This record gives sequence, C-alpha cells and structure tokens, in this order.
Amino acid sequence: MRRKEINVGLCVASLFISLYCGADTLREAFEDSFLIGAAVNRAIAMEEDEGSIQILDTHFNSVTPENDMKWEVIHPEPGRYDFEGSDAVVKLAEKRGLSLIGHTLLWHEQTPDWVFRNKEGNLATRAELLERLENHIETVVGRYRGRVYGWDVVNEALNEDGTLRDSLWKRIIGDDFILKAFQFAQSVDPEVALYYNDYNLWKPAKRRAAIELVRALKKQGVRIDGVGIQGHYGLGYPDLGELSASIASIGAEGVDIMVTELDVSVLPFPGSSDMGADVSMNYELKREYDLYPDGLPVDLQRELASHYRSLFEIFLMRSEFVSRVTLWGISDKDSWRNNWPMKGRTDYPLLFDREYQPKSALHELVLMAK
Ligand code: XIL
Repeated sequence: MRRKEINVGLCVASLFISLYCGADTLREAFEDSFLIGAAVNRAIAMEEDEGSIQILDTHFNSVTPENDMKWEVIHPEPGRYDFEGSDAVVKLAEKRGLSLIGHTLLWHEQTPDWVFRNKEGNLATRAELLERLENHIETVVGRYRGRVYGWDVVNEALNEDGTLRDSLWKRIIGDDFILKAFQFAQSVDPEVALYYNDYNLWKPAKRRAAIELVRALKKQGVRIDGVGIQGHYGLGYPDLGELSASIASIGAEGVDIMVTELDVSVLPFPGSSDMGADVSMNYELKREYDLYPDGLPVDLQRELASHYRSLFEIFLMRSEFVSRVTLWGISDKDSWRNNWPMKGRTDYPLLFDREYQPKSALHELVLMAK
C-alpha cells in the first residue's frame, strides 16, 4: 500500500474506534478560520446542565444567550431590570474565556408592549421611545462594558423585499431608529463590536438592503462592525450559491460576517421555507410534519451531515469574511426548532443528539477541516 492509502486506512480505522480522526474538536478544527459559537439557555448559563457544559467546554469558543439579554427578560417592566440570566451568561463566558455576544438590543419581538406605550396606553411619542431605548442601551451595554465582545444592536429590521419592516420601532421613531440604536451603543461602549443581525440574507433583495444599510450607517459616521447572517435552515435550503454571494458581497463592504443562529431542520416546513425565521409563525401541529418522533433514520442522519458539510465548505471558502459561526443551541433536546414553526415536534437540527452524543454531522465537520 502506498503511504497515502495507509494514512487513509488508519484514519478510517481510528474513526471507527474513537469516532474522530484524531482527537479534534469543532473549535480546533476551524481555529484558523473562524470562532465557533453556541447559543445557551438559562439552565446552561447557570451551569445546571452538565452534559451541555461539557460539550461547550470541548467544542466552542464563543457563546450567545438564547433569550437572557432580550428586552422582555432583562427589562420586563418600566424601571425594573432582571440580570439573573445575563449575569450568569457573562460569568459562564468569562470563566472559560469564551467570546461573548450580546443578543439583542432592539427587536420587534420579545419586547414588552409597555415599551411602545405611554401612561394612558396610547402609542409613545418618538421622543419617549428614543429616551427609553437610550436608557435601556445605557443600562444594559453599560453594565457589561468590557465584558461583551460584540452586540447584535438591531435584529431583523428588514422585510423580504428589502424595505424596512413596519415595526413599532419604525412607526414611532421613524426610519432612523437603526441609526439611533447604533449611536447609543457606540457612545456607551466605544470599544464593543456592533452588529446588524437578520434572517434570509442569502436572498438577493435582502442582501442588497443589508449592503445599503451598512453604507447608510457608515455614511452617517456610525460604526458598524459586522453583519450576522442568521442560519435557520433545513434540508434543501437555502440556495448555497446565493448564500456564498451574500457573504462575499456584504463582507466586501468592510464588515465582518458572522453566521449566527445556525441550525438545520430535517422536518418539512409548512408553507414556504423561504419565509425565513419569523418567530411569530405558529402552525398547527400535524403528524405529517412530525416525521421522526422516535429517532432519525440513518439516511437522513447522512443527509443532515452532508448539508452541514456543504454549508461549512462555503464558510471556509469565504473565511476571509467570516469571523464566527454560531450554532443556535448545543443539543437537539434544547433546540427551538422543536417548537418553531410548529410547537411540539421532534427535530434534529444541531450537532449533538438528545443524549449529548456527537452526530455524524459533527464528525463530518471535524474531518473536513483536516
Ligand atoms: C428564539 C429562541 O431560540 C426561543 O427560545 C424563543 O422562544 C424565541 O426566539 N431569531 C432570533 C433569535 O434572533 O433570538 C430567536 O431565538 C430565533 C429567531
């Protein structure tokens, strides 16, 4: 046997023994290219989920709170902040030297209604809402100054056709609400990285709008350091060529690209998967949409691994632009995809199964980077 064949043989043999070819981990596999992050829920943040903590310690070098820094959690009532979850995430990250991403300062979802109202229950005025936003950003960004690496300052402000979403933020403040949020964050923490984050940025119309957004902010003297491309995908989507084009063309604007919120559903998407990741979607649970309640068949396991591989091939090919890839969760048991866009399904979107075991997709990724 030639040397190469022997090496391949050894590699396959060791794959069977240890299920890894060598002792590589996800973060080591991509350490020359980008950070590997995970979203963590409250139980993980509080170190109450030993299985997930072990995976975090082994495979990841960045972390994002899945919900604990969102307005409804951190600032549930006027003047009352609740930092229990967010402080826990900060501690978790600092203890381990993980790069911490704050998520998120301004979003139309998971924001209490009182934010947009005055005492009489009517819509707040522009001045009132701006003041509230400024106070919120001062308090939250100020509290974690020097401890958060980067903030998703604004989340999901764009429609599918590239126009601005008609949210209460836009309706009350006007089109400059994005600019204001970035300015507030920048003045509270001049060092922290500032990001815009959205889904379906692989689509040409939304890609163009993101580019316009970056240009407009820069033109107005506002710093934007990166764009987060949410990756709530599934088998068969998104269009990989378009995704690659988006990474390159948004990245060419001189901002970092982060693939945020990556997960790959194996279940059929009710309606069109092109609809992206609108969290307000809530289809009625039907059996034909919940195909594998008792376990994922091997061929689908392989298909999932191969889709992850194709995605990471693009991230590697475009690694000059990509600074981080963050999975939206650690193990399948905790994935929000079990409950979105339909509640109560059994999905398999992540790299570790419900027993915290690495899936073929994880092995595929670790191997491909070698
Ligand atoms: C999701 C969380 O994972 C769920 O636990 C929560 O119920 C709803 O929000 N886009 C985002 C994330 O920016 O914050 C969302 O996270 C998923 C879609």
